[in-house]
Amino acid sequence: MGKFMKSITCLVVLMIGASAFAASGEIELEKSGNDPGNTASLQRGARNFMSYCAGCHSAIYVRYKSIARDLELNEEQLIDNLMFNAERPFETIQASMPASDAARWFGRAPPDMSLMARAKGTDYIYNFLRGFYLDPDSPTGVDNLHLSGTSMPNVLWELQGYQRAVFVAGEADEAGTAPHVFDGFESVTTGTMSAKEFDEFVRDTVNFLEYISEPIRRTRRVLGVWVLLFLSFFLFVSWKLYKDIWKDVPK
Ligand code: HEC
Repeated sequence: MGKFMKSITCLVVLMIGASAFAASGEIELEKSGNDPGNTASLQRGARNFMSYCAGCHSAIYVRYKSIARDLELNEEQLIDNLMFNAERPFETIQASMPASDAARWFGRAPPDMSLMARAKGTDYIYNFLRGFYLDPDSPTGVDNLHLSGTSMPNVLWELQGYQRAVFVAGEADEAGTAPHVFDGFESVTTGTMSAKEFDEFVRDTVNFLEYISEPIRRTRRVLGVWVLLFLSFFLFVSWKLYKDIWKDVPK
């Protein structure tokens, strides 16, 4: 085997090893299944975000005006449905609660959401928001399966209801200690939404977070289609020109 092949093989083995390591011990994430091309879903997500998240979380790179333009909302819809915290459409999304107060109350300032979907991934946020469970030992009364000891309260409990996490004993290691392995959630109280409706609610919210983390993406897709159309047209013209110019040249 050549030196090059050897190093490639080494690299592949290392990569496989690393991914196996990353996967071990982690809880599998369900796919968020959101679609940033679905404008109705983004509109619902924007409303969800403003009603349930913007009390604590800002999105300081996002202007109301751009949301209205991208999500096809007129000014009246924008003001009535989204602008609870703002006076003017060119303002950015600020949390109702000052960050310093929030830090004092929750022990941790709620992070800005502008780039959260890019930082953590939509699957993670989808699972995080559905992952709160009752825990009598926690100061907020709940813990989260994906961010253990989190200081974010279970803000969607009225919609989802409360759930309990079931853990079973895993395989014991050499010292005889068995780890707790997550085995699923059990509903304790029902919320105002069914499980399916709640998943949709979270999916729309996550969709909105993905959109704000890269607002230009929608424009870029539309632009891409025009660029391809232009290129095909140009190809056609140059092919015709080529035929025309070369037609008198003897073969
Ligand atoms: C009552 C205040 C409050 C509300 C309302 C709230 N959050 Fe949070 N959120 C927090 C705090 C505090 C943290 C920091 C948690 C931590 O690091 O333990 C946080 C953290 C997060 C994180 C980061 C998790 C991580 O892994 O670092 C995400 C994502 C998030 N919130 C999404 C949301 C969404 C979406 C909503 C609306 C459905 C929402 N939050 C509503 C207070 C809030």
